[in-house]
Amino acid sequence: MAYGLLKGKRGIISGALDANSIAWKAALKAHEEGARFVLTNAPIAMRMGAIKELAETCEAEIIPADATEVGDLEKLFTQSQEVLGGKIDFVLHSIGMSTNIRKGREYGDLNYEWFLKSIDVSALSLHKMLQTAEKLDAIAEYGSVVALSYIAAQRSFPDYTDMAQAKAMLESIARSYGYRYGKAKKVRVNTISQSPTKTTAGTGISGFDAFYEYADKMSPLGNASADACAEYIVTLFSDFTRSVTMQNLFHDGGFSGVGISQEIADLMIPKE
Ligand SMILES: NC(=O)c1ccc[n+]([C@@H]2O[C@H](COP(=O)([O-])OP(=O)(O)OC[C@H]3O[C@@H](n4cnc5c(N)ncnc54)[C@H](O)[C@@H]3O)[C@@H](O)[C@H]2O)c1
Repeated sequence: MAYGLLKGKRGIISGALDANSIAWKAALKAHEEGARFVLTNAPIAMRMGAIKELAETCEAEIIPADATEVGDLEKLFTQSQEVLGGKIDFVLHSIGMSTNIRKGREYGDLNYEWFLKSIDVSALSLHKMLQTAEKLDAIAEYGSVVALSYIAAQRSFPDYTDMAQAKAMLESIARSYGYRYGKAKKVRVNTISQSPTKTTAGTGISGFDAFYEYADKMSPLGNASADACAEYIVTLFSDFTRSVTMQNLFHDGGFSGVGISQEIADLMIPKE
């Protein structure tokens, strides 16, 4: 059921790679709620072609941009305003990548060039987006910027390696820029810390199935799905959350508040 929550709003949605992507679901939901938006992804991801299907369904234009390249981001914000006919009301940063994870490097054996790349792609790109948007004055008053994070920013997860630092920086940038942009233009900036989700980025982490199942058993509501995440994102883009900024918001079925669940306790010491 649609509520028209984003009627009349203009946005930019990054990171829709395929139908499993959180950004893909967010785009479908934002379209359903009445928003008009531009889709963007790294030029290399575009060649895979799936994003065109999504663009057709959502009647959206695609503007390729490598989120680590300020020149690409300038084009993205300038052209998006032209295509949509005004300032941008919402931006979804749904971007993450670690070559160390992809190549299975352990935390004690990281390649530092790749580490810096993880930080650039997964965290600094949020700063680059915000700084570019601010310089171009591209985001409307009370506009909303949301980036996606993971609880490895606060807790240790062995196979998440350098992405844990990238997510900690991402959340920190959301706070620091949220302050600055809030003061300057009433633009809000938040991160959503999402449950493990079966996407290309998620399942690329070794041991993913174990921590997916573990988190599901720990969370009173079970893992939050990508569809539920899309709904939460839409509420943060809507006018109903106009005073929410600089927050890291857990969307995790309760996982972050639990010490040990009964299911995990029972697995440790099975009842006789
Ligand atoms: N899947 C999970 O378990 C999970 C949990 C919490 C948070 N997240 C976060 O959600 C976000 C979206 O990931 P997803 O799970 O939907 O996976 P996904 O693989 O579908 O999306 C990641 C996207 O990042 C894009 N990307 C990579 N490098 C880029 C660059 N240089 N410029 C522009 N785009 C680039 C990819 O093309 C891809 O579309 C990421 O930030 C991820 O860390 C995922």
